Parts: sequence; structure tokens; C-alpha cells
Amino acid sequence: MLRTHTCGELNISNINQEVKLSGWVQRSRDLGGMTFVDLRDRYGITQLVFNMETNAALCEQARKLGREYVISIKGIVTERSSKNLKMPTGEVEITVNDIEILNQSKLPPFTIEDNTDGGDELRMKYRYLDLRRNPVKKNLELRHQLSMETRNYLNDLKFIEVETPYLIRSTPEGARDFVVPSRMNQGEFYALPQSPQQYKQLLMVAGYDRYFQIVRCFRDEDLRADRQPEFTQIDCEMSFVTQEDILNTFEGLTKHLFKAIKGVEIKELPRITYADAMKYYGSDKPDTRFEMKFVELNDVTKNKGFKLFDEAELVIGINAKGCSEYTRKQLDELTDFVRKPQIGATGMIYLRYNTDGTLKSSVDKFYTPEDLKLWAEKFNAQPGDLFLILAGKEEKTQKALNELRLEMGTRLGLRNPEVFAPLWVVDFPLLEWDEDTQRFYAKHHPFTSPKPEDIPLIDSNPVAVRANAYDMVINGVEVGGGSIRIHNKDLQKRMFSLLGFSDEEAQNQFGFLMNAFEFGAPPHGGLAFGFDRMCSLFGGSESIRDFIAFPKNNSGRDVMSDSPSSISLDQLKELSLKIEKETK
Ligand code: AMO
Repeated sequence: MLRTHTCGELNISNINQEVKLSGWVQRSRDLGGMTFVDLRDRYGITQLVFNMETNAALCEQARKLGREYVISIKGIVTERSSKNLKMPTGEVEITVNDIEILNQSKLPPFTIEDNTDGGDELRMKYRYLDLRRNPVKKNLELRHQLSMETRNYLNDLKFIEVETPYLIRSTPEGARDFVVPSRMNQGEFYALPQSPQQYKQLLMVAGYDRYFQIVRCFRDEDLRADRQPEFTQIDCEMSFVTQEDILNTFEGLTKHLFKAIKGVEIKELPRITYADAMKYYGSDKPDTRFEMKFVELNDVTKNKGFKLFDEAELVIGINAKGCSEYTRKQLDELTDFVRKPQIGATGMIYLRYNTDGTLKSSVDKFYTPEDLKLWAEKFNAQPGDLFLILAGKEEKTQKALNELRLEMGTRLGLRNPEVFAPLWVVDFPLLEWDEDTQRFYAKHHPFTSPKPEDIPLIDSNPVAVRANAYDMVINGVEVGGGSIRIHNKDLQKRMFSLLGFSDEEAQNQFGFLMNAFEFGAPPHGGLAFGFDRMCSLFGGSESIRDFIAFPKNNSGRDVMSDSPSSISLDQLKELSLKIEKETK
């Protein structure tokens, strides 16, 4: 063994013991007569001391150690004269009597410190060095803890973890598939799973009535802070359950994780329908750490000669409490914010409820003080409040006001990452209409069951059909989603026909699942949590990359291994793939 202890465990109780430690040189300080070296491993840092008077040769050797050299030392644990009580090992140091250099290191391209000088791209290129840093290590430890707690919790509830294949059939629904050419079946391709959806349903048909899997999923979609091309789900499915059973089971898991990992007691999760989420927050993933619900003003704003409001489908606003003293500049900033192309509002109207009780709006000439009073009543307002109002087409205006609400929440410090507001959003619509392709898409996925009471609407008013589908949302992040599934072949066929598949196409693409439904499929349902998102939420960060050991950058590249990469002509030939030119 090259060590008897780790660099994180020695303390005052180990005084006078002879120990062996191995690790990386974090830094060394040469004070003339003494040289101090901080030795680091996964568990912590221990101070080594070399004394010129007692062992000059060894001290000389220590002076030559470069940052990130890998060394092994032997020495005696001694009490420090100046203690550092902030470190677990800060009361002791090792008086070294033997040192072995196990490997040298080039000077790292950035400092391996909590606050490093390395930029994003550089740290991604040398990810193995970034992983040495404490904050990144803590994130991976948190991830590990979350996965262990999840496994134990679900195991106790008799869930069985089953691995499903990574090389599967490509299906046209959902995001784009990553495909893999088959050498043995020339001209044919596998796809990497976007989720194990169909396999977990087949496991229910097979009788494994409580399944879970912490599983990698692959989606070829545009990337954002909370999206990676390969990401991990806690994927779950249950048989003989209602939606209520599923919500309760996974609410239980969520509460357990918060308690076990954050020490936070979560109360019963509120539930809000999709329709209300859109009406009050303009989003199906509302951040409910703060109120600021939308207030509809159609009936008090129209027919007063103000064209924008008169022509708008919807006039809605939010009450920014205590902001009546916002300056012109601050209001202009907000107007510029909502006018950004990605937000898309044409402008913003405001109404101040001054502390002296007077009302002042940006459209005073169209509205009397009595009119404005009616607005203020709608907002349940108090002097000192500021109302920010948008108008236009319903959906677009809701979306823009959602962004403005979040912006105000941030500005007012209402989005503390250490406060957690989980909730369920339920009763999603079954379908959504796509203007570009002029067809319906499944809002969740094609295997989601309509609410039985809405089935009669399927032909007459498909957009009004609600699904037994639900999302768990925490602090404005969709951390998980699922549904009760269709388990009847005829209903599943009907769903595919609504989505524009001919019977033949549906049979061709999804026949294996529909056929299985003819062999005693039990009623079933489930959900999947986005595990990376869950980690980032628990870790108080917006980016899931920080919680993935080897993530991709925003263009889907692994800059460390430089992938994706081209392949040789021989490989292409073997796969029967024709590409114009061989690159690199
Ligand atoms: P869905 O597509 O909603 O459902 O995915 C479930 C959860 O996975 C997370 N997620 C992602 N995380 C990181 N990067 C991505 N690209 C990404 N895409 C999704 C989200 C999301 O809530 N099979 C169904 C689940 C079911 O019905 O049981 C499914 O995959 O947090």
C-alpha cells in the first residue's frame, strides 16, 4: 500500500503515529528553513512539513516539487503550532522523513483551486484536471448520493432495476434520434434510446410490476443549460395503479431525497392544472417560489380608445410589490427586456400605485383615475406597488409575461436557490397542433392515455382532450414527467391515427408494442425524472453540465476527446456508408 491514511482523515488523535500518505501537490511554500507542502487527494488536504535543519536533503527535494506532482510520503503526525480550524486536518501536519515521487506533472493550464482562473472551454478540454477541483468533486459526490438514496428507496418499495437495450429501433416521434449503422445488417440502423419508454411498458406486460432504471438517454436536439445530448433519467413504471398512486409514490421519493440530502422537509406538493399554470404563470413549469400571479385585465382596459388594448386578445399584468418607485431608467430596461426578439412583446405598459395613494400610468390620457382604480383593485394592490402589463395574442403574451415575471423575481431576489418549491402540473392536453407540419403531435408521447371522460371528444374536439399526464416542477424546472399509458391496442391504434399514421405505418413502427397489448397488458403508468436536472437543483446550479463527469459543450462536442470525429474510409466501407470525402 502506498498509503496508510487518506489526506482528509488525520487529526489530533493521530499525533505521533507514523503514517504514509499519497496524493497530488496542491502547492508548496518555501520559507527558507522550512518548506510546507499541501498534499491533496479525493478526501482532503494534509500539510506536510520539511525542516532544513533536521533533513536538508529531503527539504531540497521538497522545494523542487511542482504543482500536481504525484508523491508518496512517510512521516510522523505532529501538532501544528499555528492551527487552521477551518480544515478537518488543520490541527496537524506531517513531519516527513521519506518522500517518493510517483509521477511528475506538467504545469496545469489552470489553477486547481476552488476559484480557478480557467475559462469554460479550457476546463472542458482538461476535464480530468477540472474534476480534481473541490466544487466539481462535490457535485459528483452529490450525484452519487442522490443515486444511492434513490436506489435504496425504490428497492425498499420492491422496485426492480432492469437494464433495457441501448441499440433500439428508430422511431419518428419525439426528438431526433442518434442513429448507429449496423455492420451485420448493411444499410440498416439502430437508434440510441431517447428513453426506455416502450421497453418499460413491455416489462409491465411481462409482469415486472415495479420497474426502475437509472439510465442514459440520448436526444439529438438543440442544447441549453439544462439539456445535454446524453443525459440520465430515473425511469420508473408501475402496474395496477392510478395516477394518484404514481403521484404519491414519487412525491414520497422526492420528499425522501430532500430530507436525506438537503435536510429539508417538503410538505405535500401542491397540484395545478396545465390550464391554470398557463393562465396564472404563462408557463407549464411555473417557478412558485414567489407569487406574482398573472391578473387578467380585459374587462377593465378595453373600449377606452387605447388601440393596443382594444385590439388585443389578452391584456394581462403582474404586480411587482413595493416597486412603485422604479425609475424611468429601470422601466425602460424592462421594456427593452420584453422587446427582445426571443421574448417578443411589442411594449410594456405600467401603472404605479404611489405611496401617497395616487395612480400614474404610461397611458394616462386614455384612462381616468377611476378606470385606473379598477385596475388596481384587480391586482389586489397596496400603495407602493407597480403593475407591469402586456397585451396581444393570448399565447404569445402569456409567454412574454412569464419571462417578465421571472426577470422581476430575479431582480427582487425572490429566486433563492436554497428555497425549494416543488409542485405537480397535471391534466396536460393530450395533443398539440403544429402549424408547420399541419398535424397533431402528442404533447407527452403517443403512449399517453387520454382522460377516460374526455375520450368522446377525440373526434369532435381533439385539442380539448386532456391526458392523464403530469410533470413535477421545482423552482421553474421540469424535473420529471410521466403519464398513465394506453394499454389497449384499439385505443393505441386510434391515437396513432390521430397523429397521422396509417394503420400500416403504425404497425410497422410500433407493432411490437401494440401486439404485446394483445397478450394481457395490465393497466400501467409511470414517470421519469431528469436525474442531471435533479442534481443541479439540489446543488444550487442552473447548469446540468457541472454535475456530469464528462459533458458535451453547447455544440454537442466533447472537446477533450474531440468527438464527434470523422471515421476512416475502411470503416465507412465496412458499414456500407457512402460519404463524399474522408476527412482528417
Ligand atoms: P420526458 O421526455 O418528459 O419523458 O423526459 C423526462 C425528464 O427527463 C429530463 N430531460 C432532459 N434532461 C437533460 N437533457 C435533456 N436533453 C433532457 N430531456 C429530458 C427532464 C424531463 O422531465 N419516457 C418519458 C417519461 C414517462 O412518460 O415515463 C420521458 O422521457 O427533466
